[in-house]
Amino acid sequence: MSADQHLRAFIDAAKMAFDAQVTAPAGRQSCARIFEELDGPITVRGQTPERLPVCDLLAQATRPEMFAQGPLRSVVEAFNALEPHLKWRRRAGDRPKASANFEDNHVLSMIVGPGGLMPHAQVYLGVNFQAPNVRYPDHTHPPEETYLVLSDSEFSQDGETWFPPGIGGTFYNPPGILHAMRSGDTPLFAMWALWAERE
Ligand SMILES: [Fe+2]
Repeated sequence: MSADQHLRAFIDAAKMAFDAQVTAPAGRQSCARIFEELDGPITVRGQTPERLPVCDLLAQATRPEMFAQGPLRSVVEAFNALEPHLKWRRRAGDRPKASANFEDNHVLSMIVGPGGLMPHAQVYLGVNFQAPNVRYPDHTHPPEETYLVLSDSEFSQDGETWFPPGIGGTFYNPPGILHAMRSGDTPLFAMWALWAERE
């Protein structure tokens, strides 16, 4: 299968998984808009796939048998098939409250979105991965964001109190909210879907 076929399969699986797992009404509304937008033709940009050293741990977090059969396992399998086409990168910007080991132990990949495998101005669909015991910096952004968490990891919406959504857990970040995430003894793996309003 070509990159665009893998991407189509991943988007379709992500649509099913977000639809099955997201409960917050604002998150459901946001995801409906996002996946309706992605129903159209797929345009894959020619990009050179790129991995960073921490990606060697990725397989620990993406074994299909770690996920319940159904939409969750399907989206992880579709992700695994797409992964060889992805470009992984470090987070840009400042790092308030990040752990000292953050720099070399975190990566993200923008699958759809600005600079992504499929460029898009309003939809950002991608994944975060962190090695064990890494805290992501507190950050904010204007686009609203729905997370589909795929590991036993903790998340914060104020930079101080933490909650574990669990594997398959979801939550919604309203525009501009402060948020962060941290891994425990196992890697953190999560998908996000953002909707950016037109300027
Ligand atoms: Fe975010």
